[in-house]
Amino acid sequence: MSGYVQVYEKSETLRLREKHVGPSCKLFFSSDPLKIVRAQGQYMYNEKDERYLDCINNVAHVGHCHPDVVQAAHKQMLLLNTNSRFLHDHMVCYAKRLTDTLPEKLSVCYFVNSGSEANDLALRLARQHTGHEDVITLDHAYHGHVTSLIDISPYKFNRMGPDAKKEWVHVASSPDTYRGKYREDTADPGTAYANDVKEMLEQAHKKGRKIAAFVAESMQSCGGQIIPPPGYFKQVADHVRRAGGIFIADEVQVGFGRVGSHFWAFQLQGEDFVPDIVTMGKPIGNGHPISCVVTTREVADSFRASGVEYFNTFGGNPVSCAIALSVLDIIEKENMRENAVSTGRYLVELLNELKTRHEIIGDIRGQGLFVGVDLVKDRKSRAAATAEAEHIIYRLKEEHVLLSADGPYSNVLKFKPPMCFNRDDAKFAVNKIDQILMEITQAGKVTTLKALKNLKMDSHQAQESKLIHENESH
Ligand SMILES: Cc1ncc(COP(=O)(O)O)c(C=O)c1O
Repeated sequence: MSGYVQVYEKSETLRLREKHVGPSCKLFFSSDPLKIVRAQGQYMYNEKDERYLDCINNVAHVGHCHPDVVQAAHKQMLLLNTNSRFLHDHMVCYAKRLTDTLPEKLSVCYFVNSGSEANDLALRLARQHTGHEDVITLDHAYHGHVTSLIDISPYKFNRMGPDAKKEWVHVASSPDTYRGKYREDTADPGTAYANDVKEMLEQAHKKGRKIAAFVAESMQSCGGQIIPPPGYFKQVADHVRRAGGIFIADEVQVGFGRVGSHFWAFQLQGEDFVPDIVTMGKPIGNGHPISCVVTTREVADSFRASGVEYFNTFGGNPVSCAIALSVLDIIEKENMRENAVSTGRYLVELLNELKTRHEIIGDIRGQGLFVGVDLVKDRKSRAAATAEAEHIIYRLKEEHVLLSADGPYSNVLKFKPPMCFNRDDAKFAVNKIDQILMEITQAGKVTTLKALKNLKMDSHQAQESKLIHENESH
């Protein structure tokens, strides 16, 4: 087996983790966690060198341990790594390459180290630029783990009790056309959801509150793989700007060509929509911690006018920028956007074929290699099949396929694999899902937890309230 040297037996690794690592840091598959020791492309390997197909690690965007990324990091680490107070070509070269992928007015970058840092800085920029404080966020959104972002992440604060929402936070409905307020039978759901935001702005103003920003993931991931309906962002941006606020698009999960047809997921909303700030993270460094906030010259000038220097020790260091440059090169060189389009389409076709045979599949939605499978107890009520989803992801793990379930009811199977995921991988994963769904059907009607318990659910802590907590997977 290549390269891996065992330090501890798996049981000892687990014991030490439980002793020394904060208990809120959850493991995937907590009743029987995986010890992963190496990875390549779209495959991960455990301590016994058994291979798992990775359908969830969108951070390893161009594939785990891509040799060009490793080489770029190594080469630069031999030369120099220091902070951004010295001139260096990598930073400006990257800023230029990155902004070339965006509409022209998004031309100014701030380099940071995580999606959370990017979103926190975006809030500072918005508040400084507008002189306002309040934020409109979407229900079920997740924007990061720091205090300011827990405050605008209903995915987290909804679990913290009825008083957790701050008075400067306004929660708009998630633009979910399958189980949201306006569904596929609404003539123009984009306008209907945007009008709700307009109404929210008016109500906020009546109470003397002023909106600094509307923030949304360009496609909600933790919220259940939600693709906003056409026209939604443009109309929201118009309403918010009229009220003196700005639009922040969080591309931390979905940027860098994942949707295939476009480099950025917000571009699915049409050329007439341009956010004021775009935040980026996860895939940008293929696993290396770098992230970025891109904004307009006007917003950047307002930030400068505060007179406070922005310094970030690690942000934009030459090693991070060398890595990020190599990621952009690979996306192009290996035609990863084209692959996202064709493999994503094939995956959705296979899933649609499953849907004709398995009533539990209520909805399949996807763009490129960002695909959600919404599981329901019955198609009419659309009641979420939460326990079933949990069962499926545990059984898939036994079949060496890594998938997660998320959304407000933890019932949406989430595909967001490395961008080198191919047709064989898609077929393999869908065949396994098919096999598990047939097992479930054979075990009896999939309507009670009891039926699932007969299918090894005991060890999976199949208690619905607990499941919802277990299933968080950002
Ligand atoms: C949409 C979105 N924004 C921001 C973040 C925060 O990123 P990080 O974990 O790198 O701080 C996440 C993380 O899951 C995310 O999914």
